[in-house]
Amino acid sequence: MSSDIQIASVDKRYPARGGDATREVLKSFNFQIRSGELVALVGPSGCGKSTLLNLIAGLDTPTRGAITFDQPFNSINLSVVFQQPRLLDWLSVQENIGIVLSRHDGDPQTKRATVQALLDQVELPQHAAAFPQFLSGGQRQRVSIARAFAVDPDVLLLDEPFSALDELTARRLRMVLQALWLDEKRQRPTGVLVTHNMLEAAFLADRIIVMGGSPAGIRVVIDVDVERPRHPDDARLFDIHRQVMEALQDS
Ligand SMILES: Nc1ncnc2c1ncn2[C@@H]1O[C@H](COP(=O)(O)OP(=O)(O)OP(=O)(O)O)[C@@H](O)[C@H]1O
Ligand SMILES: [Mg+2]
Repeated sequence: MSSDIQIASVDKRYPARGGDATREVLKSFNFQIRSGELVALVGPSGCGKSTLLNLIAGLDTPTRGAITFDQPFNSINLSVVFQQPRLLDWLSVQENIGIVLSRHDGDPQTKRATVQALLDQVELPQHAAAFPQFLSGGQRQRVSIARAFAVDPDVLLLDEPFSALDELTARRLRMVLQALWLDEKRQRPTGVLVTHNMLEAAFLADRIIVMGGSPAGIRVVIDVDVERPRHPDDARLFDIHRQVMEALQDS
């Protein structure tokens, strides 16, 4: 079941390189992400966006404070999409997606149908048997998105998922992601998107958290009050883009 995420008084400190001192990256971070909501994290490079995502993913622990879900962490289905697709080169496209399905996801035939349905949704219906090295970067990222949705995630974390792609491909993939997000046949995960593309944040997110400062905190939270499905050229998104840029310049 899609879950709330509570980030309560979180500090994150890293040991400084070559000394005893520590470097504080996040300070008193308080935020609640509602179940089924997609929140975008934006802020200057190095401000701690990926750090926060890693803390939410349980890949690292806060120095102080806590990140909690409304279910025990080990019962949460969590998917992560990175900038690089991180596919297994020795497996076909369908095997790369199928590998994340467990024995609870049905017999081999049902699993194949699940994988094929996802390949249709990411617009790669003919590529089930292909190997990653024969796909373009955009096609590989489509597979990585299909793999992320295959587990019916409660929480979906996206760390600059489209930033390695050309703008036209990225735009197409944002629309694919939006369609998966709005697909009523699947549960809507709680999402956190890290991006440097403010129009992408406006297009995909319900709320945009502008981070800034050192150690970083929340500067401003901007609501994206635009109904879905959204069109990437909607003038209201450009307004939001401008607001985010202004907030970043002030931070
Ligand atoms: N494992 C680590 N050990 C020590 N310092 C770290 C570690 N991970 C991140 N940092 C430092 O924490 C700060 C925040 O890093 P982080 O990767 O979270 O930034 P970011 O906002 O994601 O940046 P970018 O937009 O460039 O991806 C940086 O100064 C980085 O050097
Ligand atoms: Mg990062």
